[in-house]
Amino acid sequence: MYNEIDFDKIDIDSKPPLEEPARQYYFIERCRERVKDFEQKNGRLPKACVTTFGCQMNARDSEKLRGILKQIGYEEASEGEADFVIYNTCTVRENANTRVYGRLGQQKPRKKKHPHMMIGLCGCMMQEPEVIEKLRKSYRFVDLIFGTHNIYKFAELLFDRFEAGEQIIDIWEGTDKIVEQLPNKRKYAFKSGVNIMFGCNNFCSYCIVPYVRGRERSRKPEAVLEEIKRLTKDGVTEVMLLGQNVNSYGKTLDTPMTFAELLQKIEKIEELKRIRFMTSHPKDLSDELIEVMKSSKKICRHLHLPVQSGSTRILEKMNRRYTKEEYLALVERLRSAVPDISLTTDIIVGFPGETEEDFKETLDVVRKVRYDSAFTFIYSRRTGTPAAAMEEQIPEEVVKDRFDRLLKEVQTIAGEVCAVHEGTVQEVLVEEISGQDDACVTGRLSNNLLVHFPGNASMIGSYVKVNLKECKGFYYIGELV
Ligand code: SAH
Ligand code: SF4
Ligand code: F3S
Repeated sequence: MYNEIDFDKIDIDSKPPLEEPARQYYFIERCRERVKDFEQKNGRLPKACVTTFGCQMNARDSEKLRGILKQIGYEEASEGEADFVIYNTCTVRENANTRVYGRLGQQKPRKKKHPHMMIGLCGCMMQEPEVIEKLRKSYRFVDLIFGTHNIYKFAELLFDRFEAGEQIIDIWEGTDKIVEQLPNKRKYAFKSGVNIMFGCNNFCSYCIVPYVRGRERSRKPEAVLEEIKRLTKDGVTEVMLLGQNVNSYGKTLDTPMTFAELLQKIEKIEELKRIRFMTSHPKDLSDELIEVMKSSKKICRHLHLPVQSGSTRILEKMNRRYTKEEYLALVERLRSAVPDISLTTDIIVGFPGETEEDFKETLDVVRKVRYDSAFTFIYSRRTGTPAAAMEEQIPEEVVKDRFDRLLKEVQTIAGEVCAVHEGTVQEVLVEEISGQDDACVTGRLSNNLLVHFPGNASMIGSYVKVNLKECKGFYYIGELV
């Protein structure tokens, strides 16, 4: 296991091993020499900053990068202070890309002033050939560019960059490989994301993720269980199982296993107290899973169930493979099995061909389901996806108007739904000192809502009972009982 590896024993005078992860351990060690050189020259360790632009999977990848950087000897710093700045990019919507170019624009003069500085780019946006073309032409000052499939090779690529002294670009079109046991540095001591699968096979017609993350691959259950056991030994009590479509976990394994079966195995890990997962695709959410959620003591009372649209006509064009009625029936089944479950969702407004009638169907679903919260997105045209070529792209003003109406509805309902728990006592996991008040801490309920209450840093990571005194719309003010 990586945390038992003695990096000093790695023979860096020999050739790099061919097998993984040993090869990466070797390159970590080789990079470490460079860091020592830097330290000797500058009287301090070099500093690095990894910035995440995307989803929870992207954030998890950033933790892996931070783990490798730490092992190499980098200190963590803010973006403005870092000698090595890495942007882990997202491309799910156009504005994610725009933000990255904006940030690169800010780094350029900094790098001019400090020529030793390095800039790295990785993540989903790098899997788009047009992006690489643009970077190659107009962003020569970026040092290292790699994609989603070869992220495990970070140390090796960094070493290549040190050796070459010029821009390195390495992008793979796909992979069937999963490299386990690389270093990792998680954000919270007491909770962690755990990948259970990579990629996506669903090809929703608006979505670029299957193109940039590749085909669906599940990790072996033994690898998942071993990682969680190791995490619990290290103080973790809550895990978030991650995948673009966790409900289809295990289908591609040599010995297939369902997601519900995996959950039951995870539930048995004694020190673990809370299990979360995302994202669930409604078309694959089985009755078996609902049963497991019902009987579980550890699976949190929260489900993120993206609906995308309430119109069956649009859902079909989106290739979501469920109807409005099927979605609502699923919500019914979930609610009758787990009455206190909180539901959240993702909704896209302005998909090509969406009429006012279609939009009203979406509002209708929002009113019927009464989500605890919803992420609302304006449809973004992604090159190469089927929806990008569809006629009837919706004019901006129409989309904006629908978006505002949807947001208002979602927020009003969320406020009402959140208030339901006012006055109850709930168990919360204390996560951090409150951003609003130093004398308060922030805790998370099983249903994913937050509560701020008087407390101190010593409580972080513990489970306490809190009286939810007052609902403030999306969070509570409470007090310890
Ligand atoms: N795998 C997850 C979602 C991943 S992307 C799922 O299927 O639910 C997160 C969210 O981004 C999606 O749920 C969708 O609402 C939104 N999204 C994806 N592509 C989009 C696009 N082209 N324009 C606007 N929103 C998009
Ligand atoms: Fe995109 Fe659909 Fe896959 Fe989610 S399930 S990542 S929305 S293609
Ligand atoms: Fe973005 Fe990639 Fe996640 S495109 S949403 S970071 S899978």
